[in-house]
Amino acid sequence: MAAPLPSLVDDNPRYMKSFQVFLDSSSEHQSIKAFINGPLAEILASIVKGKTALNVMGVGSGSGEIDLEILRQLQLQHPGAKVDNEVVEPSSDMLQKYKDLVAKTPDLDHVTFTWNNMKTSELEKDWKERNPEKKMDFIHMIQALYYVEDTEAAILFFQSLLEKNGKLLLILVSGEGSWAKLWKTYGLQFGKTDISQSVTMGDIRSLLDSRRIPYQKHELPSKMDITSCFTSGDEKGELLLDFLTEVPDFSKNASPELRAGVLDLLRGPDCTQEVDGRIIFNNNLEALLLGP
Ligand SMILES: C[S@@+](CC[C@H](N)C(=O)[O-])C[C@H]1O[C@@H](n2cnc3c(N)ncnc32)[C@H](O)[C@@H]1O
Repeated sequence: MAAPLPSLVDDNPRYMKSFQVFLDSSSEHQSIKAFINGPLAEILASIVKGKTALNVMGVGSGSGEIDLEILRQLQLQHPGAKVDNEVVEPSSDMLQKYKDLVAKTPDLDHVTFTWNNMKTSELEKDWKERNPEKKMDFIHMIQALYYVEDTEAAILFFQSLLEKNGKLLLILVSGEGSWAKLWKTYGLQFGKTDISQSVTMGDIRSLLDSRRIPYQKHELPSKMDITSCFTSGDEKGELLLDFLTEVPDFSKNASPELRAGVLDLLRGPDCTQEVDGRIIFNNNLEALLLGP
């Protein structure tokens, strides 16, 4: 049997480069920010009405751009309120970028940051020892549920931390977009079996429906230009291909058959459309809001 492929999430320097190329090639962050400043603004206003101190947690926060957009929106909805912001992020390099961003962002005087440089599974243990009574008004886990060992346990744990009116926001790729097509066809060949990796929001909704856990759903349209993936040896294209497959140096590490199959699927109508000579991938996301 062939050796399993290495996993991008275990190669932090390459993960960070690939993720940046993904952000530069897609409307991912623009789409999430439009959601934060649109539908989420109202939700944030209602869940913590009248409070002057808010407990917030970001899980898998990366370098913090999205977290700071949420904090900005919270401050708009609750001027002058104190915000206690717990950040959970296992990559020290990502966390350093987040701290650097905080240092150069004005108007965060009312926010205090607690840096938890650890995985979700480690937080669970740590939290029980450190903060067993502390409850959160708002927890968000944005594009990070792929990396936990047990999605159900993680969701139940975060729900258990919510205040009575608190909300848990999950954002993942849509169950109907190109990511789902790619992962359904090749996910098992992309490696890692100890984490959820190829989970989509379709899987999460099925899980919640089967447990009769209610949620509110929002669709976030997004696109990604993957034209560079089809120029062999193009540095950006190779990094993007790594991000799509979650395999570092995918072109070198995958068998020629797997590489050809993946490129073929990506080039076809199940995953992409050609627009003005560019190959455009459906990067639609879904957001779910859960109560305690
Ligand atoms: C796709 S990035 C998303 C970053 C950020 N939320 C955003 O949307 O820009 C996923 C993040 O999850 C982090 N991560 C990886 N494994 C994790 C785990 N077990 N628990 C929490 N976060 C994890 C990664 O280091 C990375 O920063």
